[in-house]
Amino acid sequence: MIYLDNSATTKIGEEIFEAMLPWMKENFGNASSPYGLGRQARVAIEEAREEIASSINAHPAEIIFTSGGTESNNAILKSACIESDLTDSLLISAIEHHAVSHPAEWLATKGFALHTAPVDNIGKVVEHWPELLPSQRSLISFMHANNEIGIIQDISKIKARMPDTCFVHTDAVQSYGKIPIDIAQLGVDFLSISAHKIHGPKGIGAMFIRKGIDFKSHQHGGGQERNRRAGTESPALIVGFQHAARKAMKEMEQRHVHMRALQDHMRSLIREHIPQARINTKESHADCLPSILNVSFSDIQDGESILQLMDMANIAVSNGSACVSGSQQPSHVLQAIGLSDKEAKAAVRFSFCKDNTKDEVEQAVSQLKSIIDSMS
Ligand SMILES: Cc1ncc(COP(=O)(O)O)c(C=O)c1O
Repeated sequence: MIYLDNSATTKIGEEIFEAMLPWMKENFGNASSPYGLGRQARVAIEEAREEIASSINAHPAEIIFTSGGTESNNAILKSACIESDLTDSLLISAIEHHAVSHPAEWLATKGFALHTAPVDNIGKVVEHWPELLPSQRSLISFMHANNEIGIIQDISKIKARMPDTCFVHTDAVQSYGKIPIDIAQLGVDFLSISAHKIHGPKGIGAMFIRKGIDFKSHQHGGGQERNRRAGTESPALIVGFQHAARKAMKEMEQRHVHMRALQDHMRSLIREHIPQARINTKESHADCLPSILNVSFSDIQDGESILQLMDMANIAVSNGSACVSGSQQPSHVLQAIGLSDKEAKAAVRFSFCKDNTKDEVEQAVSQLKSIIDSMS
């Protein structure tokens, strides 16, 4: 099988899996227990917290473990509006993942004003976004890098134009481990990350909450995670996350170069062999992740079947977010950058990881060409 859907999830690294095993077998203690077995788990969790904090230049106390990107986004948006009463309204971008847009829409049903900032035809949030702020006490949630087209927002510039009375969150689930993230440089108040996009286990992620913010948990129960996320921590998942982050940080440069070469190669092959394809991922390296290439077709009636035919050829790709694949809904991200419903349905997202090869890219393009030729 050729797996080119690494933005949906990645294969767990062998040594990452191995590092988790002792924490599921002999070291099974509860990190909140006062005896040796519990203390051992506590030490492992705190070491992982330190390492993950340092990977984004944060302080360990600013890192709270969650079950992943979805929970981090939900916790931050809901807590900022409700439990912590930091904000009275929200401004999100038109291309947010549903893990941001859906909690934001839910908050709107509870009375919080919600405005959406459009994006331009490459996916950058429009320059006049400050005029769209619903109030001077808003939470702004603009994703760091988009999961369908790979566009990177200039979060530090966004932060610099924001009133001091507002808060800013960024969903960095796709960018973490692929491009450097420095909290001090980004200047955000909140940030979400997840392990399974970087060869770590599913079911673990973290939120960064800037020191000094009076953040109250939207989940009630035990006092774990400094009272900010109730529930027994999983040392195995946390250690897995730590090892995945360590490897991603160590290999970031070389992974980046490798994925960028695959992305560039695929772009030029598609241009040459499937000239009718519209390439929705911007070519400028500084503006796009190296891991995603999104293409669409205006003259294909039944866009969904492209994916099925690729699957039949044993090539795993998606048409955008894994959460909406198969839903027959046109991608809201592609619509936001100006594609018609038809084009937004006939889209393919290729997403790469360190393990993909040039040969896989060539096979995928050749298969896509035969599918498109047969459907045109
Ligand atoms: C941008 C973005 N945010 C959030 C999520 C959800 O993360 P998780 O799967 O860890 O809940 C994803 C997953 O695809 C994503 O791409």
